[in-house]
Formats: sequence, structure tokens, C-alpha cells
Amino acid sequence: MHNSSQTDPPPTAAGTAQGFAHAKAILFGEHAVVYGSPAVAVPLHGLGVQADIRRSPAQETRIESQLFSGTAQTAPEPMGPVVAGLRAALSAVDDPDAEVELLIRSAIPHSRGLGSSAAVATAVARAVANLEATVFAEETLHEIVQAAEAVAHGRPSGIDAWAVAKPAPIRFQTGCAETIDVGERLVFVLADSGHHGSTAEAVGGVRARRDADPSRIGATISRLAELTDAAVDDIRSGDRVTIGSRMLEAHGLLGGLGVSNPTLDALVDAATAAGAHGAKLTGGGLGGCVLALADDDEAAEELAEALRAAGAPRTWTTEVRPT
Ligand code: PMV
Repeated sequence: MHNSSQTDPPPTAAGTAQGFAHAKAILFGEHAVVYGSPAVAVPLHGLGVQADIRRSPAQETRIESQLFSGTAQTAPEPMGPVVAGLRAALSAVDDPDAEVELLIRSAIPHSRGLGSSAAVATAVARAVANLEATVFAEETLHEIVQAAEAVAHGRPSGIDAWAVAKPAPIRFQTGCAETIDVGERLVFVLADSGHHGSTAEAVGGVRARRDADPSRIGATISRLAELTDAAVDDIRSGDRVTIGSRMLEAHGLLGGLGVSNPTLDALVDAATAAGAHGAKLTGGGLGGCVLALADDDEAAEELAEALRAAGAPRTWTTEVRPT
């Protein structure tokens, strides 16, 4: 799988243009970010999506993907974000009525908190830009992807749309993203819990808890914000041990918000027992994935094995490179 790139290759002789995007994992600040707190996300290079696009010889737009193959007009509801992203991208290149053939190949599992819908929309938008021999400005790309995300998730904070488009870790707050300098290489193992997470349900649950007990939930959100900003400094200085202990504290706090479950807790315990510096659920929770920080590549291999032995149907290892 192609790593995310800001510049996609030029259209082929057959007139096919491509776009790529990678998955993401939230390292700190999920849920708190919904209330204006900062969050940190890391790119998952190697877990990506590719979109191939060309002008349609027929007077209709066709989409081919794992989920659906057929005309855009007959696409089922789960394809709504893709169609919305495609139309927004075509409008952004002043070609709103263009009919195209779109092929989407994604290695990113959906509903696992890995940003699959935002990554698909990003790859599609980049392919559209490439078809027109242009590149979208960051803000334009972000708006297109947010239009698709609004169809997918209602009112997303916007962190996914930035995180899948930026090649380095980001600190995100109230709509804005900045790249974080990385002091030392970080190796993460991501473990799938095997269960879908519903971000909308998790976000709704936190909101209900906050309405019922504003001071307790407010204090939890404030502490998550502190952890996030402290972790930004740790990433800059390359302090793995402290990042790990902050991950464990964040996982406990997220449990207090009601978004963990016994499967996620068991994977975090297994990661700690296997020598991870720390581990936590990532993204909306109530299913989805656990992210664990390993000491190095060798430790990551052992960690991945331990997480699979603890019930994770699959794991991925990913690195965040120093800058
Ligand atoms: O489940 P994901 O990775 O899409 O992350 C959702 C992150 C939340 O903070 C829970 C919601 C949001 O919109 O930021």
C-alpha cells in the first residue's frame, strides 16, 4: 500500500488519476475534543486507501468498492459520504456535473476508530484534483472531507479529516491542526477488539453523562486536556515512558466517561503485562481498537503476539518517525 503523499502521480495515459490517504489513530483527547479540548492524532502509514478515477464514457457515474459496485444514483446509504465527497471535490474543481468511474480500494477496516470514512473521502478528493492536474490547498481538501464526514457522522469534531491528510502527528483543537515535531521514533501496536464501535453512540453517551453530572465529567475532560498537552511536550522530547503512563491514565479516564468496555480493558491489561509503556482505547470506543506503545520493533512484535493471544483478531504495527 502506498504511503500517504501530498502529491499524487499524474494521470496515466488511459486517463486514470489516483489519490491516496492513510488511516489515523487518536493518541490523546478523544471525546474531550468534542468540548473544545485539544487532541493528538498519529498517522497510520501502511494502512491506507487508494482511489482511481477516470472520466466515464457513459453518461453516469459508477463506483466500485468493497461495499458496493454500481451507479452513484443507486448507491446505498453507507456510500453517502463517498458520493458527497466526490460531488464536493468535483464542485471544488468547477466540474460539478462530471460523470466519472471511481474505484476505491481500502485496507482500513471501518467503524474501528481508524478514520476510514475520512481517509476514503481524502483519497477520492485527491484523485479528483489529480484528474484535473491540480492539488487542493489543505483548507479546501479539509472542507471537502468535512462535507463527506458530516454525512457519515453528523457533527464530527474535524480531527479525522486533518489526521488522515497530514503525514505527521497533529495537535488538533477547535477546527485547527498543527504538526507536532517528533523527538524520538515511536513504535505503536494497534489491536482490533473485533467489535465495531459506534462513535455517535459513544459521543451521545458522554453527553448524557455530562448533562447528568457536569462537575465530575467536566473535571475528567479538563484532566484529559492536561494529559494531551503534556503529551505534546513528551512527543517533542521523545519521552516514551511518560507518554505510556499518560496513555494508561487517559484510558482510565475514558472508562469513567463510559466509553470503554471489558474487551478493551482486557487488551490494555494484556499490553501492559506484555511490557508496553502504555495502552489505551483509541477513537470513539465501545469497540474499535486499542493503541499500545512499544519500546522498539522487537518489543512491538512480542506485544502484537500478546495482544492476539488476548483475543485481538488482528494487530498492526506502525511507527511515527522522528522529524
Ligand atoms: O471513532 P473515531 O476515531 O472516528 O473518533 C471519534 C473521536 C471523538 O472525539 C469521539 C468524536 C469526534 O468527533 O472527535
